[in-house]
Amino acid sequence: MSAILAVHHIHKNYDDESILTNISFTLETGRSLAITGQSGSGKTTLLSIIGLLQQATSGQIVIAGQNTGSLSPKQQARLRATYLGFVFQRSRLINSLTAYENVVVPAYFARTGKNADKRALELLTDFGLEHRLNHRPQELSLGQLRRVALARALLLNPKILLADEPTNDLDPTLAKVVTDSLFQARDNGSTVIIVTHDLELAERADARLHLQQGRLTVPDVTTDLA
Ligand SMILES: Nc1ncnc2c1ncn2[C@@H]1O[C@H](COP(=O)(O)OP(=O)(O)OP(=O)(O)O)[C@@H](O)[C@H]1O
Ligand SMILES: [Mg+2]
Repeated sequence: MSAILAVHHIHKNYDDESILTNISFTLETGRSLAITGQSGSGKTTLLSIIGLLQQATSGQIVIAGQNTGSLSPKQQARLRATYLGFVFQRSRLINSLTAYENVVVPAYFARTGKNADKRALELLTDFGLEHRLNHRPQELSLGQLRRVALARALLLNPKILLADEPTNDLDPTLAKVVTDSLFQARDNGSTVIIVTHDLELAERADARLHLQQGRLTVPDVTTDLA
């Protein structure tokens, strides 16, 4: 098995403040990784650097053997569209579209629209949203928004799924449904990275990394996760 993701010596500074310091690890295809750490420890920043949404101050992100730093913005965008799925901490849904449309529309843009309607309905039903299909984001609760965002990400079957606190705002029953769907995606071949404060969820992952003030402390695995 080859590494789908290699993170090499990532540093991130804002002004002269160091937010991430020397983060390195590799991850194999089809594995799940939980990233834990206190609020402000740099988890979202790391996830967005891995997701090519912001640049590191130094270091490299290698996805499927491609050093992303050497790609043009257009090539990076293509890599994002074809490899990466996101569930953001602040769900970024399109306000003018309904819940159902938010899930299904990106699949058509990504030209993976075949069967998208049926699968979108299945996912939204699994997530307990069958009565909210025609609601717009401003008419949904935080937990509902989060589930819509996850359904949207799962529909595209991303090779790497990046989920930032996906079970926040969910009751225990729904948190389990969402957690199960993340591991189902892993079982279907996606590589899944989950930022979470939920230690039970973290325990279920194949590997765990812990951030403390922007540095990795490694409680139970080596940093070479491949
Ligand atoms: N654009 C920015 N400019 C300056 N500082 C920033 C910026 N974005 C984030 N930070 C700082 O970087 C640090 C890490 O933020 P980050 O959002 O990665 O934390 P986190 O571990 O995800 O926290 P939480 O668990 O609360 O989501 C924080 O101290 C934050 O204030
Ligand atoms: Mg965060």
